[in-house]
Amino acid sequence: MKTVKLHNKTFEVFIAETEISTIVHSMANQINISGIKNPLFIAVLNGSFLFAADIMRKINIPNCEISFIKLSSYLGTESTGEVNELIGLGQDIKNRNIVILEDIIDTGITLEKIILLLEKEEVNDIKVATLLFKPEAYKKDIEIDFIGKSIPNDFVVGYGLDYDEIGRNLPHIYKLKE
Ligand code: IMP
Ligand code: MG
Repeated sequence: MKTVKLHNKTFEVFIAETEISTIVHSMANQINISGIKNPLFIAVLNGSFLFAADIMRKINIPNCEISFIKLSSYLGTESTGEVNELIGLGQDIKNRNIVILEDIIDTGITLEKIILLLEKEEVNDIKVATLLFKPEAYKKDIEIDFIGKSIPNDFVVGYGLDYDEIGRNLPHIYKLKE
């Protein structure tokens, strides 16, 4: 399938399944040789479910663990405004070496919120691994330790990424057709 139609928009293949696989294996190798001890991988749902499943099969660090979180926001009091919380962190992560698994980092706003919330749990170290990165959109100065592929500021779907909740099941990554 060279193009797909999702809602009212047409998307074309941008990163084929075989290239995704190469990118994921190469990142797994970098993480394997990075020297991180007893890592706790934390995959950010929903977008990173396929990336997390594929990369974990190539991680060979002894005693590694994986957990899944979701960032949710709710309205606090007038003074606190929008408040974010991590859903799914059902364990004590104090002193752990965390590796965040993200599908895509765009402005970096989500990443910054997640890191702030994880730091409150007194973790030892946080590394960030993202499949895709949009350098032109990135507004933060948090260092990203492992980047699969840097892409232009285009909207992409597939391999976990959605367009209004659909398209996550597509094996390739597609971009909006001009
Ligand atoms: P942020 O701007 O870095 O906070 O990215 C926020 C979230 O927007 C990401 O975690 C994705 O869920 C979503 N997102 C950003 N860019 C894209 C895209 O190109 N396709 C689909 N989702 C995206
Ligand atoms: Mg996401």
